[in-house]
Amino acid sequence: MATKTVLITGATSGIGAHTARSLLDRGHRVAVTGRDETRLKSFLDEAGHPDRLLGMIADAADWEATESAVTRTVEHFGALDAAVANAGFMTGDSIGAGDPASWAPMVLTNVLGPALLAHAALPHLEATGGRLVLIGSVAGLKNSPGNLYSATKWATTGLAENLRLHATSRGIGVTLVNPGMIDTPFWQDAGAPPFALPPQPVADAVCYALDQPAGVDVNTLTIRPIGQPV
Ligand SMILES: NC(=O)c1ccc[n+]([C@@H]2O[C@H](COP(=O)([O-])OP(=O)(O)OC[C@H]3O[C@@H](n4cnc5c(N)ncnc54)[C@H](OP(=O)(O)O)[C@@H]3O)[C@@H](O)[C@H]2O)c1
Repeated sequence: MATKTVLITGATSGIGAHTARSLLDRGHRVAVTGRDETRLKSFLDEAGHPDRLLGMIADAADWEATESAVTRTVEHFGALDAAVANAGFMTGDSIGAGDPASWAPMVLTNVLGPALLAHAALPHLEATGGRLVLIGSVAGLKNSPGNLYSATKWATTGLAENLRLHATSRGIGVTLVNPGMIDTPFWQDAGAPPFALPPQPVADAVCYALDQPAGVDVNTLTIRPIGQPV
């Protein structure tokens, strides 16, 4: 693809970090966000390419931080060709036996976050004929008992299609990428299952969506490890 500017939320580890590295390897300009300064600094130090990489502390659940991240990306690189709503996490408990105090940040990050990013980014993507990618989940296609994280990803599934309907008349592509189980720090409490994939196939799927020729909109990509039972 021609050289592009891509903003990825929550890209200091896991799928977002692998996607950022893949895009840098292909010669693109990349802006990344995260909440933890130490994690952001170590990602920036390790990724290299400081001329084409911008790191910002920004909570994806916060409107002002999200708007500022988009504005700073455009000011720094001159335009925005793609935005990837990747920031997200799972509390790991269930509605029946969990800690409700931990649910609001997860719901706000996973559900409100992509909507805030879309609101901030769409005018810039309209200017470039750009693309929006949402990282959903197989948990947004399948249910499991009392799983609020899964419900947040069902919301992402719905949001991707309603954003597609809104954006396509404005010349913007929208892709929902649904990872299955991927071995990242996402699983730090529960432990990743043995069949979990490394993050690279998901990063490759995002690059594939961004790499489509003008006029082609790949809408949904689901990447499971072989052996995943759901
Ligand atoms: N791993 C899997 O099996 C799997 C499967 C399906 C879907 N997914 C989805 O894939 C996405 C990436 O997850 P991952 O597996 O790569 O996990 P990860 O390695 O834990 O990465 C999550 C990234 O998001 C950042 N983040 C979390 N909350 C944030 C917020 N409110 N604002 C800004 N940044 C935030 C984290 O950094 P800070 O904590 O420093 O902010 C980190 O950089 C998530 O949406 C997740 O739901 C993962």
